[in-house]
Amino acid sequence: MNETMRAKARAHANIALVKYWGKRQLKLNLPDVGSISLTLEGLTTETTVHFDLRLTHDRLILNGEERPEDSKRVSEFLAGIRKTAGLSCFATVTSTNNFPTGAGLASSASGFAALALAATRAAGMDLEDAELSALARQGSASAARSIFGGFVEMSRGKKINGEDCNAYQLAEREHWPLKVVVGITSKARKSVGSTEGMLSSAKTSPFYKSWVDTHPADLSSMRDAIAEKDFGRLAEITESSCLKMHSVMMSTRPSLIFWNGVTVELMHVLTALRKEGVGVCYTMDAGPQVKAICLPEHASRVEDAMRSVAGVEDILATGMGIGACHLKDVS
Ligand code: DP6
Repeated sequence: MNETMRAKARAHANIALVKYWGKRQLKLNLPDVGSISLTLEGLTTETTVHFDLRLTHDRLILNGEERPEDSKRVSEFLAGIRKTAGLSCFATVTSTNNFPTGAGLASSASGFAALALAATRAAGMDLEDAELSALARQGSASAARSIFGGFVEMSRGKKINGEDCNAYQLAEREHWPLKVVVGITSKARKSVGSTEGMLSSAKTSPFYKSWVDTHPADLSSMRDAIAEKDFGRLAEITESSCLKMHSVMMSTRPSLIFWNGVTVELMHVLTALRKEGVGVCYTMDAGPQVKAICLPEHASRVEDAMRSVAGVEDILATGMGIGACHLKDVS
């Protein structure tokens, strides 16, 4: 077997401060709104891709288990790479997350970023970060951001071929090394996938248009807050963007309510802490976990406060991470 038919990569999850929810085009997976995120150091996916002439179909082994139900999405993604690389054989994809999968913790972001890098390397391709990011977007739009480290923006773009829909680094993590404390309130997998939820929101939520129309102002304020290291402004826009997205989700028919009671309790606890002068704000994605973004000097106080809330199953505390990287495959 040719050495270049196998490769391994690691990518980190990311948390959006200004959220992405909605698609302007399904085939290329182009978002209807831009977004800004932080790449997280402690939440990682490691993926090995092995193109193997003996296989009759693609296989996905996720966290040690064969996952035929998830392999279709992976197989569609690999088909594009096979076409570009002129390969005709199938692959075994072995992927491990060090955090709960499919529970609103951005496992598809780190997953498709790691897969894009490992699969292209295994197929003998050596892509630039911008090209990798555009490829990762086709698997999951938030994955385009996980190719980069630190603070990352993804632009909406206008062109129908998607060439102006790009993710790029806004600032290195050293610019403003914020901390993130994640309160896990349930490890169950979510019942509605993001793609299905977004299409349904665009069709049925009466707030969808306002969500899209007010987005450019949020992106611009967030860029300024990051450049000026203005935590108060970052906190205000982060919570506002999160709550606007959840208002769209909740007003979708049938409604998409991702929170549980502990999620709401944590929101109140973190709001009270900020009133006391602690540099912290919250954000939630398509799941019930609460991500507290905080100033490094306040991280242990935030962690203690979140841990003391009844119903919090686990806490993950992390700093900001680097972009996706190629790993030496020793397995
Ligand atoms: C709620 O990237 O998972 O986490 O492109 O359909 O795969 P697809 O969606 P995905 O969407 C994640 C949306 C979000 C907010 C965000 O990360 O910006």
